[in-house]
Amino acid sequence: MTTPTPIKLDLPRIAVPKAPQWPELGDAEKEQLRTRIKRLLKERNAVLVAHYYVDGDLQALAEETGGCVADSLEMARFGAEQDADTLVVCGVRFMGETSKILNPEKRVLMPDLNATCSLDEECPADLFSAFCDQHPDRTVVVYANTSATVKARSDWVVTSSIALPIVRHLHEKGEKILWAPDKHLGSYVQKQTGADILLWPGACVVHEEFKSFALERLRRLHPDAAVLVHPESPDEVVKQADVVGSTTALIKAVAEMDNRTFIVATDEGIFWKMHQLAPDKQLIPAPTAGAGATCESCAHCPWMARNALQNLAETLENPAAHHEIHIDPAIGRRAVKPIQRMLDFARKQETAKAIDA
Ligand code: 13P
Ligand code: SF4
Repeated sequence: MTTPTPIKLDLPRIAVPKAPQWPELGDAEKEQLRTRIKRLLKERNAVLVAHYYVDGDLQALAEETGGCVADSLEMARFGAEQDADTLVVCGVRFMGETSKILNPEKRVLMPDLNATCSLDEECPADLFSAFCDQHPDRTVVVYANTSATVKARSDWVVTSSIALPIVRHLHEKGEKILWAPDKHLGSYVQKQTGADILLWPGACVVHEEFKSFALERLRRLHPDAAVLVHPESPDEVVKQADVVGSTTALIKAVAEMDNRTFIVATDEGIFWKMHQLAPDKQLIPAPTAGAGATCESCAHCPWMARNALQNLAETLENPAAHHEIHIDPAIGRRAVKPIQRMLDFARKQETAKAIDA
């Protein structure tokens, strides 16, 4: 099957910031911060909701304090199941926004509200809405990595762990799809499902860095390694994968496959969880910079890197100071529908799997 071509559009050029260099903390300083955060979480009846790409110290703290470390689908679900008044989302902005849309009555905080995502930035709501208006015959499916306003204009929201079954379901019903914003994930989904998909031309600045020739060389050096690839990566990289999937699927592969060595094409933050579950397995980052190539992100999301113990403590100490997510209620009421549709679909799918088992 041929690779679908994304539509031609002049997208805004985004400036990719350097990942912040947090001052190195000694053990005593770290422990002090951890104790302070734990105390504040209790005082504020707050819970941590962290993504697999954030710093390992934050992932550990989330687990220790009864929060969660998860992919973007599970993060959305977890927040909605909590009694806590406050959700503290360690990740990027769209994750905090999704939590707020699903839980408008809760306070949702983030260590840094400027932690954005290149996919979100490359899909401005006005341009996107005009594009949808030109294709009224298509079902609008957007990746969770988008703003609340873009979600509000969609029929379905999907994450990487549920995109394939949802698009397959729509294709089986004969629906044609308008997909945004990740062209690589969209192209992967199109090839797997055979659906008629119109692709928005966005990309993730982290996954787009993976280099296929360098990966081929690395595979020759480690012929027994399994190659794990997140589907935001370019087609030539995805083609070389033994497993393509969401962050959760890649972690599960390391824990469950018999291989001793894995080449991993996704953000390096994921290694913390992989090491925790399979401490004796060898994990090799997939190459991001071939000879002479530039590397803007080097397999670590510069926005995920804006989350650290230091600003998490400050967030809980001083929530009113630029840490709280606010969503226009009218946008929230529209955006919740396609997100809830995804969550309901995921629940039905799990129930059907449990009955089959
Ligand atoms: P997951 O939903 O697989 O965790 O991916 C989110 C993301 O932003 C990957 O870059
Ligand atoms: Fe966005 Fe890519 Fe960062 Fe994920 S890794 S949050 S897709 S820029």
